[in-house]
Amino acid sequence: MDERTPEDKRKLIIDCDPGHDDAVAILFAHVYADVLGITTVSGNAPLESTTRNALAVIELLDADTPVHSGASAPLAGQAIHAAGVHGAGGLGGVDLPAPSRAVASTDAVQFLLEATRAQAEVWIVAIGPLTNIALALQEDPTLTERIAGISIMGGSATVGNATRVAEFNIWADPEAADVVFRSGAKLRMAGLNLTHQFTTSDELVEQLREIGSTKSTFVAALFDFMHGRMEELIGKRRSALHDPCAVLTLTHPELIVSEPRAVVVELDGTHTRGMTVVDERVTRRRDPANVEVAYSIDADRAMALVVDSVRKT
Ligand code: RIB
Ligand code: CA
Repeated sequence: MDERTPEDKRKLIIDCDPGHDDAVAILFAHVYADVLGITTVSGNAPLESTTRNALAVIELLDADTPVHSGASAPLAGQAIHAAGVHGAGGLGGVDLPAPSRAVASTDAVQFLLEATRAQAEVWIVAIGPLTNIALALQEDPTLTERIAGISIMGGSATVGNATRVAEFNIWADPEAADVVFRSGAKLRMAGLNLTHQFTTSDELVEQLREIGSTKSTFVAALFDFMHGRMEELIGKRRSALHDPCAVLTLTHPELIVSEPRAVVVELDGTHTRGMTVVDERVTRRRDPANVEVAYSIDADRAMALVVDSVRKT
């Protein structure tokens, strides 16, 4: 049982591109953390869709969390989406009523800068392309000093998904990721090497359906849709629960093992653009660490917390 008092809860701003796993991360964070606001970015789907989806999820949770829309394109190049995974609208396979509420603003960057001036020790949870975060850092580099840190779902210490070596959130805006990884902010990275250890199953879908609430039915539909897509893509009915890992590392750090590493973002490689290049050398000559990179997760206990969060909301 997790009975955190409001004072105990980490204060978060979630920057996201809903996105099935983004939606679960938002739900989870509203149970185990204090979510000050949500900012949206183009990523899994165009900005209009990710923003609509974020508003619809907040409405489903009956939360009063403000949503601020942000960047509709990366710092360089054209917007890239993941319709083949999440559907054209970003939340394929689920029937969410159109949100009745509107965004609090269309200036995610100003919200990030102002909210972190008004409240100390905020963690920014970045679970989409890092465009908004990079723009905020470029406008006010002192952001790094007043936040607790940035917890990123992105990158990988091993394989990619968007390409052989690049993970989607980094690949969709490598220049933004480079700004963030070089910013000097306290960084935590939940990459694919970690999130591939944290996967859903059809048994989990049935468990959620048996709860029988609106939220549990919604989350079951999210996973069921992703299982169908993964069956087409990898031949297995299971999906990595990527984005909640960036929240879990803050709300339940005891479930994740991380190590300090030097990480840079490749911008120019013909085959490696968007890769997070992690210095895994064991010699003392390796580069100074700028990121806490997650390597393992207690997946059973973490998934039990996800199910509990669905029961609670
Ligand atoms: O590579 C996984 C990431 O890309 C997750 O954030 C998922 O939502 C997609 O945005
Ligand atoms: Ca995401």
